[in-house]
Amino acid sequence: MVAERTRRVEISGIRRMFEAAPPNSINLGLGEPDFEPPREVVEALCRSVENGGNHYGPTAGILPLRDHVAARYVDRDPKTSRQNVIITASGSEGLMSTALALYDPGDEVLVPNPGFVLYGPHARLAGAVPIPYSLTEERKFQPDFEELERLVTRRTRALVVNSPSNPTGGMFPERTIDRLVEFAERKNLTIVSDEVYDEIVYEGKFASFWGKTDRVVVVNSFSKTYAVTGWRLGFLLAPAPLAVELNKIHYHIMACPPTPAQVAIVAGFDAGHEATRKMVREFKVRRDLVTRLLRSIPGVSVVRPQGAFYAFPKVDLGLSTTQVATGLLQRGVITTPGDAFGSLGEGHLRISFANSREKLRAGLGLFRDFAEDAVAG
Ligand SMILES: Cc1ncc(COP(=O)(O)O)c(C=O)c1O
Repeated sequence: MVAERTRRVEISGIRRMFEAAPPNSINLGLGEPDFEPPREVVEALCRSVENGGNHYGPTAGILPLRDHVAARYVDRDPKTSRQNVIITASGSEGLMSTALALYDPGDEVLVPNPGFVLYGPHARLAGAVPIPYSLTEERKFQPDFEELERLVTRRTRALVVNSPSNPTGGMFPERTIDRLVEFAERKNLTIVSDEVYDEIVYEGKFASFWGKTDRVVVVNSFSKTYAVTGWRLGFLLAPAPLAVELNKIHYHIMACPPTPAQVAIVAGFDAGHEATRKMVREFKVRRDLVTRLLRSIPGVSVVRPQGAFYAFPKVDLGLSTTQVATGLLQRGVITTPGDAFGSLGEGHLRISFANSREKLRAGLGLFRDFAEDAVAG
């Protein structure tokens, strides 16, 4: 009954662990902040709903929100204006609209392996072919430029990048961003830069692709920074002529982004930023805790995450990733098997630190017991 494209896409492997989890499991699989949005933002949402904000709005989003977003990027490119901004109904919708707007059937799209679960399926849904490029632990989850050069063919249309990364926690320094821009311009590729974790950074400076090239679409979201994953609100940034094209696809998918959520984000813009800073301070403490605890587990190595809220340890216990994740699940710890993010995720687990310090200590304690038992054979 369904189209070929529907048969060929699968639901993300991230969810399979949740479904099999025993009750009261410790959840180290969460892909969203364990914080509530700031009061100001929640109250503004309620006010908007009560005061008649329950109707369609402009396709590209309400002007004050587009202006706020543009203002955040003027230090990267002083010409940034609302013409560059499209408010989307989440980062996910922004990614899908971008894929449909940019890729023709048969095009090839370079996607990170391991990488966030939507890039490959979105390329396929647009009729394109995802071509994975590697981000390995040995290279501290940085791209291998020789490999990228080898992977480009005359059909390559775009390069998808995600820094800070889900699932690796790796971040690209500015010099890598500059090299990627030089590479993309030389090969006539469009960069699709997923920057949804741009404010969740622990050290070093986040470098955006915005302002570096005209061949870029930046995808961002309010989900993680404002802890409003359920509100479904994000944005795209693109050179104005490209934004007009992206907006056509966005219109045909969404008509417009949710109105009350936009009003609420405008009202709580400053409070939201302060809340993000507080949340990031707590994530940083947990990041250090998780890194230390993981490094004390036999057979486990981990690169210290620089951003997002995930660690991506390599687990060498003579077991497959599925066996490790299933073994942990039986002991009441939910993790995400690394192969849910691509073939090079095999051998890794994604540990989310969007959970309390206490839960992290307990969960990683159970992980240590499991590893010690496995080593003892
Ligand atoms: C790297 C990355 N991009 C995009 C998204 C999509 O976020 P949302 O659709 O909630 O805006 C996520 C969510 O987990 C993510 O991790």
